[in-house]
Parts: sequence; structure tokens; C-alpha cells
Amino acid sequence: MEKIYTKYKETSISLTTDEIKKLFYIETYGCQMNVADSELVVSILNNSNFVHTEEIELADLIFINTCSIRENAEQRVRNRLQNFGVLKRQKPSLIIGILGCMAERLKEKLLEEEKLVDIIAGPDSYRSLPDLVREASEGEYGVNVLLSRDETYADISPVRLDKNGVSAFVTITRGCDNMCAFCVVPFTRGRERSRNPQTIIDEVKDLVRSGYKEVTLLGQNVDKYNWNSGELNFAGLLEKTATVSPDLRVRFSTSYPADITDEVIDVIARNENICKYIHLPVQSGSNNILEKMKRKYTSEYYLDRIKAIRAKIPDCSISTDIITGYCTETEDDHKQTLNLMEKVGFDFSYMFKYSERPNTYAQRNFPDDVPEDIKARRITEIIDLQNKLSLLSNDNDKGKIFKVLIEGISKKSNNQFFGRNSQNKVVVFSKSIYKIGDYVNVKIIKNSSATLLGEIVE
Ligand code: SAH
Ligand code: F3S
Repeated sequence: MEKIYTKYKETSISLTTDEIKKLFYIETYGCQMNVADSELVVSILNNSNFVHTEEIELADLIFINTCSIRENAEQRVRNRLQNFGVLKRQKPSLIIGILGCMAERLKEKLLEEEKLVDIIAGPDSYRSLPDLVREASEGEYGVNVLLSRDETYADISPVRLDKNGVSAFVTITRGCDNMCAFCVVPFTRGRERSRNPQTIIDEVKDLVRSGYKEVTLLGQNVDKYNWNSGELNFAGLLEKTATVSPDLRVRFSTSYPADITDEVIDVIARNENICKYIHLPVQSGSNNILEKMKRKYTSEYYLDRIKAIRAKIPDCSISTDIITGYCTETEDDHKQTLNLMEKVGFDFSYMFKYSERPNTYAQRNFPDDVPEDIKARRITEIIDLQNKLSLLSNDNDKGKIFKVLIEGISKKSNNQFFGRNSQNKVVVFSKSIYKIGDYVNVKIIKNSSATLLGEIVE
């Protein structure tokens, strides 16, 4: 990859290379993949004479890893940049870099729109960050937004930013070829590519050696994992990962309804340490809308996949993503979404109002014609229904005993731990003699729609 854009920066500050400061701070917005990417960035910079700090006031470089998925995600980043502006006025030598999806989507436009920005680096250009910092320190803009067909950062060992030492993300694919009509990801993260399985397994083994108990395999559509034209598919990779250690929990995100295979379901069913939880974004219950979204399945097909999952993994929990108020969505389409939610009985959901994204197929071809007040009412109905379904699902767990991995101390009480069961539900319980990273059996005695409360049983 090469640097594609460098421009003289009109500034009164002139730094020489010798004066480059070394402490950097990074803040992450958006999805799990961005968290994993920030861990790569820390690794790349640490290996290049920069030092990571968690204290923004000490930093000579500030990076913000950004999200473009909805307009309000971008707005949040822009608001945060205003705060960085205050810091920059106090310390004019401060270098500010925008990473991730906004960098890729807006490219040089960001330099005009956000005057305080010095570096713009898209998701495939993090290896060039040390060079971009050097340019920025010499008074130039450092910009690299070149997307790659093969960059997977396979050889880089991420520096884990979540300090719990229990649970880690491991990237298995980058990019997405699905081109859902509403989605900006294929434009910001580029073509789909799979990472060399040996490097994945080596990373997982390293994590186990360092005491980690859970990995989440990450990709925009993990079911498309494909190494060496069919040599290893996602089912194979999942099983390989599960065999690294019986003590290691394996999760993955995200599956795509048209691509999740029976083979994957079988692998989950027969491996105790692969978590009984599938996130399967449906987006809408209406075939008309699914077609306009360019999703490659019908609601019937989706329900059939749910049936297959439940038949082979009876205790599997299932969550989803829903977009409401998509272009041309009628009241009847909306009712079909509510209907499908009830039919499936999702354990939880991530629910969004449609946000039109520039240059997507939907933006170019359909009007964003559902008025804001109707989107707001529909999302409220969807959230209300999901709350009921989540409560029902959690009510069902009362009296059950779950194996829980202890992840930390409960936010509400210092005397309580929280962890998750295989089904990805949060369980809170009194501490006893155990420590973070231990597995314990917990009997559920109380619950809300969001949490299970229990006590340890021996
Ligand atoms: N396959 C990806 C999806 C990334 S986007 C994954 O790994 O999860 C996450 C979710 O954001 C999508 O499933 C969708 O429900 C939502 N989303 C994407 N684009 C959107 C838009 N333009 N407006 C509202 N929600 C959107
Ligand atoms: Fe986006 Fe669809 Fe891929 S939601 S990330 S284009 S699967």
C-alpha cells in the first residue's frame, strides 16, 4: 500500500522530526471490529517507538477510531472532536488523527470540515500510521485511505485494551461483499477477505497461554470465511478454534441468515465450549422490504433457519438487528416485523431507525420517505415488544443453573460479580471465594428483562 495524498499544511507550528512526541491516546466508537482494530493500531504504534497512554491530557497524539453506520454515530464523533479542539488550543503541537469508517467515507473532505485534523487513515492503512505521524509532525497532512484486497493484519498481535484479561476479540475476516442497500460498510471497509487460519489459531493459543477464557471470532459475515478457495470454511475454523482448549469459550459475530449453514449449526451443537448463542440480523419481517434492502433471504427462509437452530441446539439463544422506517416501509410491513419478532421470540435485539447513508444503493434509488415521527413510533413499538420478549425469555431461566464465566465486578455493588452464561445473558451474583476468570455454576433466583440474578451453587 502506498500513501496517496499528502498536502502542505498551512500552519504556524513548525516541528522538526526530532521533536516528535511519543505518547498517544486512542478512543474507539462503533462496532466490536473497531475495538479489535484499535488493538491493532496500538500494537503497530507500540512497535514504532510510540507509547500508549490512557490519559488524554498527557497525549501528544490523539486518535479517534470512528463509525459511519448511522448519521448519529458520525455526529457523536464530530462532537467529541470539538473537545479535542479545546485541548489543541492549549497544546498546539497536539496531533489529531481520524481512523476507521469516517476516515474512509469522507477522506480529504474531513480536513476541510474538521480543521483540527492532521491525519486521516482508513481501516486498511494502519500499517502506514508511523509514516503518517511523521508527516503530520513535519507540518503536512498525513492521509491514507487506500482500501486493500488482501490486508488482514494477519501477523500483528493486537495489544488488548480491555484489561479484564478474560475475553478477547479475534478478527477472522475483513470487509463485506454483501452490499445490503442501506449499509455503508462495504464502502468503508472494502472487499471481503479471510485471514490465514494458522495466524488465527496461533493468536487464540497465545490468548489461552496468557489466561484468557473466551474469544469472539469477528467478521461482518463470518459465514463467508473461506481460506484458500474452500480449504477451510467457517464451520471448520470454528471447530479448530474450539479444540484449542476445552476451557476456552468460543463466540462469533456476525452470522448472515442466507449463509449460515447446517454444518455450522452442527459444530455449535457438538462442541460444549462453543457458546449457545447466535446473533442473526433479520432487519425486517417483510419480504417486500427485505428485497428492497437487498438482503438475500425471505422471512420464510429466516424462520426456517431459526427452526434448524432450535432443532439441533434447543437451549440456543438468538438475537437480531432490526431497522425500522426503511424506504417505503408501510404499516403492514412494520406489523410483519412485529409478527416475526413474536414468532421467533428473540432473546434480545439491537433496534435502529433507518438512517440514510450517502452513496449507498438505497440513497441512490429510494426516497427516505418514512416521516421521523412514524419512525419514532415504530421503533418504540419494536423496543416495547422486545422488552416483553426479553422478560419472557429471562423469566424462563428462573430456577435454572448456568455455567457462568466471571468477567468483572458488578457496576451496582462491589460485593457482586457479573459474568455471562453460554447464551450471552448477563448474570449477577455474590462474590464468594471466586475470582475474575473463574467458571462458576449459578442458580437463577430473580430476573429483569436485562439481567439474571443468581447465587453460586457448588
Ligand atoms: N454484518 C455486520 C452488520 C454491521 S452493521 C455485523 O457484523 O454486525 C450493524 C447493524 O447496523 C446492521 O445489522 C443494521 O441493523 C444496522 N444498520 C446498518 N446500516 C444502517 C442504516 N443505514 N440505518 C440504520 N441502521 C443500520
Ligand atoms: Fe452491512 Fe450487510 Fe455487510 S449490513 S456489513 S453490507 S452484511
